[in-house]
Amino acid sequence: MIALLKPNPKSSFAQDVEDWFLRRRSGHMIRHYYSGKALEYWEAFTRHSKEYYLFDEEAALIQTYAEQIAKKYGQATVVELGTGGIKSGYQKTLPFVKAIMPKLYIGCDWSEESAALVCAIVEKETGIKTDVRLGDFNNKDMQLPTGKKVVCQFGSTLSNIESFPDDPLPFDALVSNLKNYKQNIGDDGALVIGLDQNNNPGSLIASYSHRYHAAFSESILHRIQRELRVSRHFDPANFRYNPIWIEKSYQFVHALVAQCDGGFELDGVPVNYAKGDIFSYDNSFKYPQHILSNALEAAGYSLPQIYRGDRVSLQVVEV
Ligand SMILES: C[S@@+](CC[C@H](N)C(=O)[O-])C[C@H]1O[C@@H](n2cnc3c(N)ncnc32)[C@H](O)[C@@H]1O
Repeated sequence: MIALLKPNPKSSFAQDVEDWFLRRRSGHMIRHYYSGKALEYWEAFTRHSKEYYLFDEEAALIQTYAEQIAKKYGQATVVELGTGGIKSGYQKTLPFVKAIMPKLYIGCDWSEESAALVCAIVEKETGIKTDVRLGDFNNKDMQLPTGKKVVCQFGSTLSNIESFPDDPLPFDALVSNLKNYKQNIGDDGALVIGLDQNNNPGSLIASYSHRYHAAFSESILHRIQRELRVSRHFDPANFRYNPIWIEKSYQFVHALVAQCDGGFELDGVPVNYAKGDIFSYDNSFKYPQHILSNALEAAGYSLPQIYRGDRVSLQVVEV
């Protein structure tokens, strides 16, 4: 019998890591964070950090205004872009879903683990039917059911756009993501987005400077060591989490910074770095309102209704 041999394609994780260390891409690694050990650290971070205002401020806005939003969109299918962890499942997703009381909740994420656990919370606590969509919701037709839909996105996920630290704010990518959400919503429904719009470097840096956030950020290095073919010179201890604020582009960079000069081989490919080199695994753009409103307009939405906290806002846009 002849076996058909297929070439063994590089996994998306291996490819993304290669692109990262060879500096072809930057800020694109977040898709590998919301599962396994990293998701455990994320959960611990949101539970233990006192400075991480982003979570509590947004949860309070959702809990306060969900009923008001539901008056217009009650019973529409709820589609969540970016399901996250257990704490956000209980404190953000659940109050929102309970206010709308849809017949169906759809959790969309790259991470099957994340989408499945938030769907399980919704089903257990409400009895509402749930479904999952996996993949990149910024580019995909998510095959949503017809009829009225409220597409929600909490946790400032719209701010996570890949980009190098020196690049300008990626306005076109922001518009393109918003356009894709609009296409998925169709002609009846709304987009509800939670965003951090804080531009104060002191409180921004403080909010992420927690040992569990460092552990979350650095966990990718241990995964690389466990799962990829790296030479023995690859040492996770040579990189440290370091948040960086770039005022001109409103860019908060989540970086792993090299602590010394070094090098290693990744699947036979040489990688070299110097002390102080920045490897950004994710960006959080803190869009001022005029930039966000311009992007919404360019993507074909009307002006948003804004519910404001101190630094975080909920933006509701009808389609
Ligand atoms: C910043 S977290 C927010 C999670 C949660 N909603 C919260 O408020 O804490 C982003 C979530 O969206 C997912 N995600 C981010 N960008 C995505 C994309 N383009 N396609 C699919 N999932 C994405 C991540 O895996 C993660 O679960």
